[in-house]
Amino acid sequence: MPERKNWIVLKFGGTSVSNRQNWDNIREVVKQHRDSGYKVCLVHSAVSGISNKLQEVIDQAPRGNYTALLDSIKDTHRDLADDLGLDAYELLGDYFLELDQLAKGIALVEEASFRVQAKLMSLGELMATTLGAAFLKKEDIETNWMDARDLLKTVPQKNASEKNIVLSAVCDDSPDKELQLELSDKGNVILTQGFIASDQSDKTVLLGRGGSDVSAAYLASKLKAEILEIWTDVPGMFTANPHAVPSARLLKHLSYEEAQEIATNGAKVLHPRCIMPARKHKIPVHIKCTHKPNLEGTVISSAVSDDTALVKAIAVRGDIILVSMESLGMWQQVGFLADVFEVFKNHGLSIDLVSTSESNVTVSLDPGLNAHFQDIRNEFVEELSAHCKVNVIESTSAVSLLGRHIRTILHQLGSAFEVFQEHQVYLLSQAANDLNFTFVVESEQADRLVRQLHEQVISQSGNQQSFGPTWPELMGDVEEKEELHEAWWKGKRDELVQLSREKGPSYVYSKDALIANTERLKELHSVDRFFYAMKANANIDVLKTFRSQDLGFECVSIGEVEEVFELFPDIDPGEVIFTPNFAPREEYEQAFDHGVNVTLDNIYPLQKWPEVFENRTIFLRIDPGHGHGHHDHVKTGGVHSKFGIPRFEIPEVKSIIDDISITVKGLHAHIGSGIKDPTQWKSTALILHEVAEELGGVDVLDLGGGFGIRENDTQASLNMKQVDELLKQFRDAHPNYELWVEPGRFLTATAGVLLANVTQLKGKGSVKYIGIDTGMNSFIRPALYGARHTIVNLSKLDKESTQVVNIVGPICESGDKLGIDRLFPESEEGDVILIANTGAYGRVMSSSYNLRMPATEILI
Ligand SMILES: Cc1ncc(COP(=O)(O)O)c(C=O)c1O
Repeated sequence: MPERKNWIVLKFGGTSVSNRQNWDNIREVVKQHRDSGYKVCLVHSAVSGISNKLQEVIDQAPRGNYTALLDSIKDTHRDLADDLGLDAYELLGDYFLELDQLAKGIALVEEASFRVQAKLMSLGELMATTLGAAFLKKEDIETNWMDARDLLKTVPQKNASEKNIVLSAVCDDSPDKELQLELSDKGNVILTQGFIASDQSDKTVLLGRGGSDVSAAYLASKLKAEILEIWTDVPGMFTANPHAVPSARLLKHLSYEEAQEIATNGAKVLHPRCIMPARKHKIPVHIKCTHKPNLEGTVISSAVSDDTALVKAIAVRGDIILVSMESLGMWQQVGFLADVFEVFKNHGLSIDLVSTSESNVTVSLDPGLNAHFQDIRNEFVEELSAHCKVNVIESTSAVSLLGRHIRTILHQLGSAFEVFQEHQVYLLSQAANDLNFTFVVESEQADRLVRQLHEQVISQSGNQQSFGPTWPELMGDVEEKEELHEAWWKGKRDELVQLSREKGPSYVYSKDALIANTERLKELHSVDRFFYAMKANANIDVLKTFRSQDLGFECVSIGEVEEVFELFPDIDPGEVIFTPNFAPREEYEQAFDHGVNVTLDNIYPLQKWPEVFENRTIFLRIDPGHGHGHHDHVKTGGVHSKFGIPRFEIPEVKSIIDDISITVKGLHAHIGSGIKDPTQWKSTALILHEVAEELGGVDVLDLGGGFGIRENDTQASLNMKQVDELLKQFRDAHPNYELWVEPGRFLTATAGVLLANVTQLKGKGSVKYIGIDTGMNSFIRPALYGARHTIVNLSKLDKESTQVVNIVGPICESGDKLGIDRLFPESEEGDVILIANTGAYGRVMSSSYNLRMPATEILI
């Protein structure tokens, strides 16, 4: 037996203790720690769902409705006991009886005092831990069950309401030698309840919902544990809620301060109150996943991470209540804030965020700490109204950027704030410690805002040390087939260097990569037809390659339509879509003459040129009401976008199309480019479906393009499997519609690289420049969108990167920068530089500005 070490405290949450498979994992974790010499203190919650049911008993019993609830609570424990090979009645009979008696008592007196509530709720933990301890003993782990009320005692809280004193108690967390000795004597494995404690008169109190984490932290502090492990059903803390933002990354390590901010601001993984005791006593906290015990999870400690990621996470707290206080008299009035805050204090309300102006003070109340607000609302508002005009605003959410030196990244947020062109921000607050920047918005807008902010601030911030894999990568449900596309040029280095030297600046496209991208696209089995948005790259050889793969073409000008017929005279016109925007009348006439699918994205042509459309079959491009994408300029939905017919015009459109006998064959929407959120195409399908039902007779829903790619190796990719699954759900629900898509970037971006040759070097002190023989005239995306493309020195691919440089072109514009602050090897005149993922919106957007010809194009 190894030398005896210190305590380790393990906490398992409700889902972790609800089935046999997890209990087998718990047994192994306990054994491992015990066998490596730790004294194990295991703390766990009630079985999943039981606390909610007990709460329902408290709510329903005063009206006599509780027997079915009690039966269901007992059934759940009986099932779990069976699963664990235990006898529920033998172990839990007394608790079942107490449960019956308490519920009956509540029914009789028609109310439940806070004390009774605490007693009833505590049964959840007491029953679960009784089963847990019996199971471990049966599995030959000598386990001592202890009543947490003998281990944790409350301390008085200043200004706390009676409800908080009993149902959200605070306990002493100072290291306790006596307890350490007492528990050591009991053996190597102690098992006790989370969530419950006792007050000075030994009465049961609770630590608030989710309080088991807090119990574990208290016990870790009292026992001076070496480690606190929090075992949950998720593999750690993430940069955002991974269910809402699939590209969210695991946070491998965090400081206590960062973890505190993230937990306090809405991440559900960890109870915010559990960090303070751990921090105070410098106990590292490990967050681990019970059903995947081998994953590393998140480590929270005082070790400083040396990465440059300033924003570590974006969190959302829903159900925020705002109290807005308006008073003209407040200006220069001594004590106004003291007076109004006194009212909050008197009602036991805890204030979270504050924002002030000359005539208004708005504060937010965190519902977690102010659960009694609705009970005292009227009284509180009345009292406060003596000082000012009061407005209580509900259904808001607080979205917080969390990390270090938040102030320094505010400039990056520009286009994410585009959401607010249409919606109100109620309150903005930047914490004085610079760890938190929060805005309170309508709850409905919160998810969209988080996704946008995540994309802009976290996904673009590079491969930081503390960022781990995405959820799908961790849980093994991602299909990574992108290596080929990213790496194709690495295997062709000599050929590319030679080409660049011979031909000068060149776009080089890989035919194999174009075909591989097409094959990946076709894995969207829920989609019926695929069109290539030829605006992305209209190179003849690229178009021929896609035609050989049976793709149709999506054209945005009559020039593109004519190019398709010139190259492929035999193409079925049904395989061509014409989707112009503010095009002149003649283009529609010419498109009808070609027999292609014509998409109308404005009511104007119908009103002004009805004769062009009379008796025709057309598509309508709908504005689904919001845009999405990697940059403001590529979002193509919402009132500030010039594309699409707004939904409020549909009735008018319908009346015109009925009048002039137009058949609407399909509806179309394209909301933007570079989208990584897999839910977007299904959302679009649902909106188009609603419009289709309104119009009737529609067969096709064209969901546009916009499929995002992994721009560089620090970014998560779009999970196409998820896109497909979501679209399949749509199809299963609405089998009468054909689904079409029309990507551009997804098909071509990774298949192309831009090669250029180093012309000159320059050093202005510490700022270094590497000049190349083409610039924004060939490739405008970095200047236009701030796009960050991987850039390498192909001639020195094996050399170590030793300097930070800016890669610039020869154009007389200060924006002519292709890459800023890039880690690069020592470079010299004549070296060949490669800019990756330039196959889309590269050469097609080039110009001969400064009379410098753009890079030539080659397909290999
Ligand atoms: C109507 C339409 N469809 C498809 C696309 C292709 O978008 P992406 O290249 O992002 O797939 C665009 C791009 O602007 C578009 O405007």
